[in-house]
Amino acid sequence: MCGIVGYVGNEEAAPILLDGLRRLEYRGYDSAGVAIQEASGIEVVRAVGKLRNLEKALFDRPLQGSVGIGHTRWATHGRPSEVNAHPHVAGPIAVVHNGIIENHLRLRAELEKGGFTITSDTDTEIVSHLIHRETRAGHDMLTSIRRALAQVEGAYAIAVVSEAEPRRIVVAKSSSPLVLGVSRNATYCASDIPALLPYTNEMVFMEDGEIAVLDPDGFSLSTLAGEPVNRRSRKISWSPVMAEKAGYKHFMLKEIFEQPRALEDTMRGRLDRERADVETAEIGLSDEDAKAIRRVILLACGTSHHATIAGRYWIEELAKLPAITELASEFRGRDAVIGEGDLVIAVSQSGETIDTLMAAKEAKARGAKVLAIANVNGSAIPRMADASFYTHAGPEIGVASTKCFMTQLANLLMFSIWLSRRRGTLSEGEAREIVEGLVRIPHQIEERLEAMHEKISDMVREFSNARDVLFLGRGLSFPMALEGALKLKEISYVHAEGYAAGEMKHGPIALLDAEVPVIVLAPQDRHHERVCSNLQEARAREAKIIGVTTAGDAQTQSLCDAFVEVAPVHEVLSPFLTVVPLQLYAYCVADHKGTDVDQPRNLAKTVTVE
Ligand code: G6P
Repeated sequence: MCGIVGYVGNEEAAPILLDGLRRLEYRGYDSAGVAIQEASGIEVVRAVGKLRNLEKALFDRPLQGSVGIGHTRWATHGRPSEVNAHPHVAGPIAVVHNGIIENHLRLRAELEKGGFTITSDTDTEIVSHLIHRETRAGHDMLTSIRRALAQVEGAYAIAVVSEAEPRRIVVAKSSSPLVLGVSRNATYCASDIPALLPYTNEMVFMEDGEIAVLDPDGFSLSTLAGEPVNRRSRKISWSPVMAEKAGYKHFMLKEIFEQPRALEDTMRGRLDRERADVETAEIGLSDEDAKAIRRVILLACGTSHHATIAGRYWIEELAKLPAITELASEFRGRDAVIGEGDLVIAVSQSGETIDTLMAAKEAKARGAKVLAIANVNGSAIPRMADASFYTHAGPEIGVASTKCFMTQLANLLMFSIWLSRRRGTLSEGEAREIVEGLVRIPHQIEERLEAMHEKISDMVREFSNARDVLFLGRGLSFPMALEGALKLKEISYVHAEGYAAGEMKHGPIALLDAEVPVIVLAPQDRHHERVCSNLQEARAREAKIIGVTTAGDAQTQSLCDAFVEVAPVHEVLSPFLTVVPLQLYAYCVADHKGTDVDQPRNLAKTVTVE
């Protein structure tokens, strides 16, 4: 996830672009850059790190001109470095891009064969060369971009400037967001509304498959196929602060709602539906490596640890490999038995958590292979690992992790499928059922989110005064119960326990009375009957039961005081759906209590102390 911005008008572009980028920094902040049409041609200034480094670079090398584009980056392809920072230049063309070009490797090979020199590791630079190739063939800027985009597969919002047409910016969109702003004598574009709010509140939302030419007097919009589009601007009444959260009250809520998109971004280009397999060439493990693994050890902390428990169940069930999970802090210094033949999967949103980093280093030193699953490109854990498999959730701002957890689940399941297919433990038919089910998950989350949020925010009025809450689940629902309890503790400061449902009678049942809500995860799976028995046991102690049930399961719902429904899915996929109401429950309780949802007391997003 990155942020792009563009300005074409009569004022100096650089300060406007910098200001817009500052408002988009939440979308990524590992490097930034601008390209401005100076009298002598396009000049580019880029800098690694936070935006202040770009500001400093522009102070040392001021750019003058009233047409320009800018970018703040969240690295996906290629580590954060100046050469990988946007804008990317090819001949007279400069491009900024937010998204992922899926077929960039094939296009890169084709361009290199045609004599183009590609200097960065990014997928974006490919787009600038494709456009350049078309302009060299004699096409104007708009036609060149249309023709170039016809060769591209994937997600993009791009803004392009060309020395051949210096008073214009051309923008186009497919999947990634892009909004235009119009004011007297100036036209703007940006990834998100807040970048433009100080300048105009007249906005035009571009749709997928559209392209627009911006000049100081306005814009002309058409489809990539060349059909003109008539769309009038809308007045936006958001305050800048609200807008940063896209209208959501908190980043956490925004991130919960972003989960379908985060999952799509993470799975894009990785699921091979034709062969019912997973395409993981990027992670750099061979089929032989998959066969040589004797055991998998999953290391993580906090929420990421809960994802690894689901990962363990998947690896055992699908790949038939022994797998264990370890809290990274407990693994360290314990003289755990580990060595060659062991694959360590270190899972971390930030890629910087010190306990996970040190534990993975210890495992590597003893001969294990380390695979990192991280969300921050180029962070410490992927850097030390033998192989990396990134999640593409985009920056997560809320301290309580939600969308990153969701994408960690996706990577762990995709990796399990990959392992099983190589080890011959999963038939094509079974794999197909799971892969096809996984493809449907983002939509299945999305279609219920709004109504689920509404229902849960009503529901918590009754339960938000509870001092203790118990979360129960079996099988894959057990780690989700742990995660539900952690979310509630983290942001609402309510004591909560996640428990394996079968263990309740060995202790927590003593806590139960009419004051204790028990949240029971009871999707239709092989554990359903036994979970319902545990539910009955809690009910018999007068506990209030909130069920997370499969849609239409009236029998289970009749045993609950309140319930939330999730879509029916293949049982290995249930965690993707059952965790969502638990995130919303924690959010709604915290919001009801008025706690600091995004920055709960005593916690930090990235823990770099032991
Ligand atoms: C902190 C965060 C949690 C996170 C944990 C592990 O405690 O508040 O949200 O789950 O660290 O972080 P990681 O970046 O390694 O996933």
